[in-house]
Amino acid sequence: EKGGYDWFMLKEIAEQPQAIADTLLGRLSERGEIILDEVRLTDQDLRDVDKVFIVACGTAYHAGMVAKYAIEHWVRIPCEVELASEFRYRDPILDRSTLVIAISQSGETMDTLMALRHAKEQKARVLAICNTNGSTIPRESDAVLYTHGGPEIAVASTKAFLTQLVACYLIGLHLAQVRGVMYSDEVAAVVEKLQATPDSLRTLLSRMDDVRALGRDLRTASTVLFIGRHVGFPVALEGALKLKELAYMHAEGFAAGELKHGSISLIDDGTPVVCVVPSPAGRGVMRDKVVSNIQEVRARGARTIVIAEEGDEDVRQFADHLIQVPHTPTLLAPLMTTVPLQILACEIAAARGNDVDQPRNLAKSVTVE
Ligand code: F6R
Repeated sequence: EKGGYDWFMLKEIAEQPQAIADTLLGRLSERGEIILDEVRLTDQDLRDVDKVFIVACGTAYHAGMVAKYAIEHWVRIPCEVELASEFRYRDPILDRSTLVIAISQSGETMDTLMALRHAKEQKARVLAICNTNGSTIPRESDAVLYTHGGPEIAVASTKAFLTQLVACYLIGLHLAQVRGVMYSDEVAAVVEKLQATPDSLRTLLSRMDDVRALGRDLRTASTVLFIGRHVGFPVALEGALKLKELAYMHAEGFAAGELKHGSISLIDDGTPVVCVVPSPAGRGVMRDKVVSNIQEVRARGARTIVIAEEGDEDVRQFADHLIQVPHTPTLLAPLMTTVPLQILACEIAAARGNDVDQPRNLAKSVTVE
């Protein structure tokens, strides 16, 4: 049932292009409008929204972090992302014009459910992004967008993450369109870019042999650090989470610019640092800043593992290992850059003799707070 793969996780990683395509299927009307699933919110409700909160846990929280960049950029309303387990203790300011987006693969995560209930008590509107039909979180929400990732068996989330990203992009585009900040042709242009990602991802997945070899080589590392900026920052956090979860190894993700404010002293001779480089096409300045950060860590002895876009040949000189990913617009790049990190974590964990699909101390769905 693992379809010839050693682990469900590898099978699910390989299913990602299809999962993205399925999640996009039938979402764009002939008039160029985004079609969501169960939306018991009127367009007027969505026009009245003046603030978005995203609540989620773990990997789904990282998807929410990416969504913040997309929603604020496209919709031009403030969007906050918060760990579901912390949300209600802060006494967040919520009302009828707040949209709370709860992201959950299982739809049963207790922390996320409790955050959702708190939001509803304060009269906020709640929209769920979920992979499990009829589960508790979508049942209790005002609207649902299902990710069509299919069942995820491995405890570590992979295809659910990418489909959560797709769902977040669709919601961002929908909000922008309904509120008149983006025209249908602009929305359609982004959807077209999204529709191209499964093919790019297939190409990327066919070239992962070097990443596997690198994974085996890193199995004895005592720590691995991950850095990124903008949407590359949540990708760095996700890469570190996968590694901790599967390889039982110390790993940490940082906003690339934060390193110099303290954590750079962790870097010693040979410390592996995974660097997520933005596309030079989109935001050249940001890409150059990340490249400077790579040089900074390298000057202190880091072994740099650089994830950069094809054609960005200038980064090669700063990379001990270069992993090239196909071009995607900056906001959509996590759909590419996350994937080598999933494979890296899987490979390191397997090389350490761990059960990749069932890491110790973890359950697939976390129904306690
Ligand atoms: C990590 C992982 C977890 C989940 C988190 C939320 O690989 O799988 O961090 O993402 O427990 O789960 P859901 O999305 O089911 O609410």
